[in-house]
Amino acid sequence: MYRILKPILFSLDPETAHHAALASLKLSKPFLPLFSPRLRVKDARLIRMVFGLKFPNPVGLAAGLDKEGELADAWGELGFGFAELGTFTAHPQEGNPRPRIFRLPAQRALINRMGFPNSGAEAAAKRLSALRKSGRWPSVPIGINIGKSKLIPLEEAVEDYLESLQHLLPYADYVAVNVSSPNTPSLRKLQEAKPLKKLLNAVVKAASGKAVLVKLAPDLEEKPLKEAAEIALSSGCAGLIAANTTLSREDLPEGAYPDGGLSGAPLREKALKTLKTLARFTRGRVPLVAVGGIFTAGDARQRMEAGASLVQVYTGYIYEGPSLPARLCRGLLEKPTSNMKPPRH
Ligand SMILES: Cc1cc2nc3c(=O)[nH]c(=O)nc-3n(C[C@H](O)[C@H](O)[C@H](O)COP(=O)(O)O)c2cc1C
Repeated sequence: MYRILKPILFSLDPETAHHAALASLKLSKPFLPLFSPRLRVKDARLIRMVFGLKFPNPVGLAAGLDKEGELADAWGELGFGFAELGTFTAHPQEGNPRPRIFRLPAQRALINRMGFPNSGAEAAAKRLSALRKSGRWPSVPIGINIGKSKLIPLEEAVEDYLESLQHLLPYADYVAVNVSSPNTPSLRKLQEAKPLKKLLNAVVKAASGKAVLVKLAPDLEEKPLKEAAEIALSSGCAGLIAANTTLSREDLPEGAYPDGGLSGAPLREKALKTLKTLARFTRGRVPLVAVGGIFTAGDARQRMEAGASLVQVYTGYIYEGPSLPARLCRGLLEKPTSNMKPPRH
């Protein structure tokens, strides 16, 4: 099916295609249970217990695809083991001017400079509250990814994150603190020791025992990366996500490219390196979530063998289509990793 749909979607401007795909998914929600058996792989060997949560499989939807949380109840039906919604900001915002997503089909990559367009944490909370009341709350864990509103100065970032959290915590199985998107001016400065410590201490405290994860950039050198991980650990964070998009173009053929964060196949090695550095440093003290350039079961296995408990996909999903989570799960089952034993009961 996606083989027929993809050329149509890829003939549209990327953001129009994105909205068209989400709109058709929304319309097809009532019929998802019909497709679900083919898209969802159920097997005890895929179950992961991480952050005290039960994940039916380790393949999650990465942040940024369901920016408004409008399809929160669909991702599990579509075969994902969890979904990270957002990034949400305390203030509603339009994001950067269009065009702001670019396809690089030959490289199986995307460049985006979205800048967190979203209708704000309060509106998202209302939507998620309605979903809960409807009785269709997702059966897979839901991550709530929060970031800084563009209009708020960096010095007031903590209060801004806390405002989002206050609205959205009731709907979070885990909270992802996004300090690594390259498209909000200065956001990445929050990865520096002093502001990071202040932010994470406050978020962990406000999260009242729920797991808080930090999403880091693949562009951090080893020393600041380790420093950020050390702060995350000492602040009581439950996990780390490696990684967000990269500003580097070194893994692309020489040429002129739009500004923004690069994702997909050219991010694979950088994201893997970031994960390996974190794994070496954290030595199992906190679970790691791997994201960046995952297209195949081999990619997912490699990340899990490098220390990831869970993986996430975004760009791979755009290029490979809705069968990707099932394909990754089946591939992992064919050749399980050492950390894929069935859970003890
Ligand atoms: C169009 C687009 C929008 C994104 N928006 C967000 C976002 O809002 N928050 C976030 O934490 N990551 C965002 N990301 C980053 C992804 O979650 C992921 O970390 C990155 O794309 C690497 O994974 P991939 O190679 O599988 O795409 C976005 C990525 C893309 C391509």
